[in-house]
Parts: sequence; C-alpha cells; structure tokens
Amino acid sequence: MRIVVGVAGGIAAYKAVQVVREFVLAGHEVHVVPTASALRFVGLPTWEAISRHDVTDDLFDHVAEVRHVGLGQSADLIVVAPATAHTLAKLAHGLSDDLLGTTILASDAPLVVAPAMHTEMWRNPATQANVATLRERGIHVVGPADGRLTGRDSGPGRMSEPHEIVEAALAAASSPSASGDLAGRRVVITAGGTREPLDPVRFIGNRSTGRQGVELARAAVRRGAEVTLIAANLEVAADGLTVQNVSTTAELQEAALLAAETADLVIMAAAVADYRPAVVADEKIKKDVQGDELALRLVRNPDILHELSIARRSGQVVVGFAAETETDPDAQLALGRAKIARKGCDYLVLNRVGWHEGFASAENAVVVLSASGDIVAEASGSKASVADRILDVLA
Ligand code: C5P
Repeated sequence: MRIVVGVAGGIAAYKAVQVVREFVLAGHEVHVVPTASALRFVGLPTWEAISRHDVTDDLFDHVAEVRHVGLGQSADLIVVAPATAHTLAKLAHGLSDDLLGTTILASDAPLVVAPAMHTEMWRNPATQANVATLRERGIHVVGPADGRLTGRDSGPGRMSEPHEIVEAALAAASSPSASGDLAGRRVVITAGGTREPLDPVRFIGNRSTGRQGVELARAAVRRGAEVTLIAANLEVAADGLTVQNVSTTAELQEAALLAAETADLVIMAAAVADYRPAVVADEKIKKDVQGDELALRLVRNPDILHELSIARRSGQVVVGFAAETETDPDAQLALGRAKIARKGCDYLVLNRVGWHEGFASAENAVVVLSASGDIVAEASGSKASVADRILDVLA
C-alpha cells in the first residue's frame, strides 16, 4: 500500500518515527508529511531516512508534480500521528493551508488519526466537538491513551503506542465502507494463474502472482462491495472476502460462471491457460519410457471471459485483462481493441508483461479500454493504487 503518514507538531512526533518504521518494514511505501511545527520536534533527515522518500512540509516544493494533491490522490491510507488539538480542528473544518491539509482534502483513502495532547486540551469541548465531527465522517480515531504526559501530569491525552496505531490503521484500510461507491454490490474477481496437470506431479502454468487481482478484491471490499475472490493457485487471507480456491481452468470456469449468476461486476484478472494437455497421465511420466523427446498434445480451453460476456445479465459489467509482451504502445493498443471486440466484454484492462515486467512486481501500469475501444483511464503506480483507479471507472 501507499501510505501517507502526517505528523503534527507535538512531542509524540518522536514516537511517530516508529510508526513509519513499522509500515516500511511491513513492505509499504510510506510518504511522510510533517507540519512545520512537527519539524521542530523531529528533523527532516530522520523522516527521509526512515521512510526512504523525499520529505517536505512546503506546499510550494515539487509544484510541477502537483504534489499538493498528488500524494493524497495516490494514497491508499493516511495516518496522522500525532494529531494535535490544532490539527484535529483543521481537519474538522477542512482547512488546507499546508501540505498535510491539501493532501488529506484531496484523498478518498481511509483516514486514521492518533490524537496526542494534554488532558485539558483533549477534554475541551472544542476538541471534543471536532473529534465527534471527524468520527461522524467515518474517520478512525485511535486513542488517546490514559497515562503519563510530557510534564508532571498524567491522564487521557497520551498518544497510543506505535504498534497499536499501525494495527488500527491496517485494519481501517481493509475494513469495508458502508458508504463506499460499491456498497451493496456483488463483485466477483478471478486472480492468479491456472495450472493444467500433465501427470500427478507436474503441470503447465504461468508466472502470474495474482497481486493485481488481489489488490482489486481488497479495494472493492474497502469500497463496500461483497467480494468473491476466485483464487487460482494463490494463498489469500480471507479478510472481508469470500475466497474460493481453484487450480485448473475447468475449476475456474465452473466457479466463475456460478458466482457470476448473482454478480453486478465480474473482473477476470486471472491468467487462464489457453491450452491443456489432451491426456493427463495417471502415473508420473518417466524419461526411461519416453526417451530423448517428449511431445505433448494440447487442446484449447474454453474462453471463460467470452462465455461470461455472452451470459451477461442486463446491468452486469464484465471486465477482462490483457497482458501483452508487445513493446510498441500503439501496436499494444491495437491488440487490446481487437481483443475486447473478440471477447465481447465491457472493459479491458491492458498491461505490458515481459521477463521483468508485470508479474511479481509491486508496481503496474495499465490502460483501460471501453467496449468501443476508447481509452477511459490510464493508471500507474502501486498495484493497490492502480486497483482503485480501475474501480473508479467501473463503479
Ligand atoms: O485471450 P487472452 O488470454 O489474452 O485474454 C485474457 C483475458 O481473457 C483475461 O481476462 C483472462 O482472464 C481471460 N481468459 C479466459 N479464458 C481463457 C483465456 C483467457 O477467461 N481460456
């Protein structure tokens, strides 16, 4: 995930270093946005070293990249730790006079805040009203804890421990939103790569890791959908989704056609084998029997996407994927246009794959075509952010 960690100006900023560290160690891409006062507590080199990305609090840095909204638009999750009384007040009123303010306003990602302040400030009706407003808007508030504060006092106002903030933030990122743009929709997504057995121990497969499909499933859950993930040879945690495990094309076909009967949206992100061995040996194929050469006879598999498109009910949206090794963008687009016409689906997500591209990488770059062959979206970045851009079109 691409996570923005906003840091406001309170002494607990030093503990937010650990929050950033835990996200980075868990494999997330983290961008830190400190306020000017936060930088008086913890300096910029610390944030850059620990997040491994450039850090600025200045709205007027990186203007050519439109950074004041770009960070927010591409974020999958925003965490503000510590959130001071002042920052909570700004958030409640939608103020955007610094980079953290614009980033948050420009984002539709889940927002998690970890308040930290002295007890009197926390209990002040102004702060309580601001926190109530934020909660009403679905913003997740973690803490504050009751304990020792910076001075001699103690009471509610201490920032929650870093691991609690990280845990709550990751849970918020994967929890369904009742008000999301896919709320109440049934979504079926296939992901992974099929395997066609040759004998009890061998198969013909492909290099798909299923990451883009799994990110689509997770993003659809976050947006409120009821999601069935048909996972071909993948291990996926069933957080908030129904996972059906399949292996061969025939199994995937049966599961997809059945699940599609009640779905509003079907996304065929799985890499499905076009051919399978005509005969599957009951016993392990032996080289001392076969000799120096072994010829395999393959037969065509059914085209599941085509079948889903033909069986599509009115109002249902069917989406295909096309992974091409073609390097010329125009030629690739032409292949995509021919494919969507042939398959008969509503949208086609086109991406380039090769020995070093597409598969197993955390990043992706795609073009989304409509049934008429028009480009309706282009997206690049983390597979999670690409998933959200694709769903923006489909929602
Ligand atoms: O024809 P091609 O394999 O390039 O098309 C890719 C799209 O078609 C993907 O959405 C894939 O899931 C789907 N497909 C299918 N059944 C097949 C082969 C591909 O549904 N036998």
